[in-house]
Amino acid sequence: MESIYAKKESGWVNHYAGIHYGGRYLKKRWTNFVPAENYQFVETLSKLSIHSIDKTCTNKRALDLGCCVGGVTFNLAAKFNEVIGFDSCEGFIEFCEELKENGKATIFSCEEGDLENEMLAEIPDSIDRSKCSFILGDVLALPSDIGTFGCVVVSNLLHCIKNPMKVLKTIPGLLDDNGICVIASPHYSSEEFTPKENWLGGYLNQEGKAVTTTQTIKDVLSKNMELICTVDIPFILQYRLRSYEVAISEVQVWKKMQTNN
Ligand SMILES: C[S@@+](CC[C@H](N)C(=O)[O-])C[C@H]1O[C@@H](n2cnc3c(N)ncnc32)[C@H](O)[C@@H]1O
Repeated sequence: MESIYAKKESGWVNHYAGIHYGGRYLKKRWTNFVPAENYQFVETLSKLSIHSIDKTCTNKRALDLGCCVGGVTFNLAAKFNEVIGFDSCEGFIEFCEELKENGKATIFSCEEGDLENEMLAEIPDSIDRSKCSFILGDVLALPSDIGTFGCVVVSNLLHCIKNPMKVLKTIPGLLDDNGICVIASPHYSSEEFTPKENWLGGYLNQEGKAVTTTQTIKDVLSKNMELICTVDIPFILQYRLRSYEVAISEVQVWKKMQTNN
């Protein structure tokens, strides 16, 4: 279970909890400079996933791979009977369990040095939290009995694992016919996370042609899945009150084609 995030201090829980649950506080800070929609990544991705469900798919289970602090996992419970959040970082899974148990948790955003701003991560009462369960594990070694799903979300995960191709190739087998997969990626392609020989894109091939993550995902999934839509969704990484990074994930929504038995 080698997540780069797992090796870092518990500040990462607050950092990601700020992205998943702190938008309603953080978006008010710099309204002149930072559009509020940049704080809606989790909500926008969850809505897109729910709206993309194919009514003919009877499987009402969802899987959130690399669920982090669980924002998307809990949102999917509005539509699915069972949702599994899966992550390799113990601190994130513990935080998800706390939210499942209590419906809320105190989180902090860094203002300056040791000064922090207290916020509340809250799951709306309308969400049945008991539908959600969380598994600590490595996406490169999913439990063999995890089953199949009507929806698999792979959000901002492919760029931070050692072998993203292995996960991509696993996706069709995790879905029932007409099940959807929502893949979000900021396409970092960095050796900090992924050995260069395993990059999905971001390099020139032997013929000197640019290989992109966008195209590689299409090449792999289009064998047994249909691309429904592609959208861009921004998100904000807040490091300090006055220090932000805006990233824009490309989100591809795929539907598994009917298999002829
Ligand atoms: C950049 S965060 C994205 C989290 C969330 N899905 C989102 O979109 O905000 C990547 C997540 O993947 C998890 N992760 C990294 N490597 C993993 C692995 N090998 N198996 C399972 N989870 C992993 C990290 O712990 C982290 O929670």
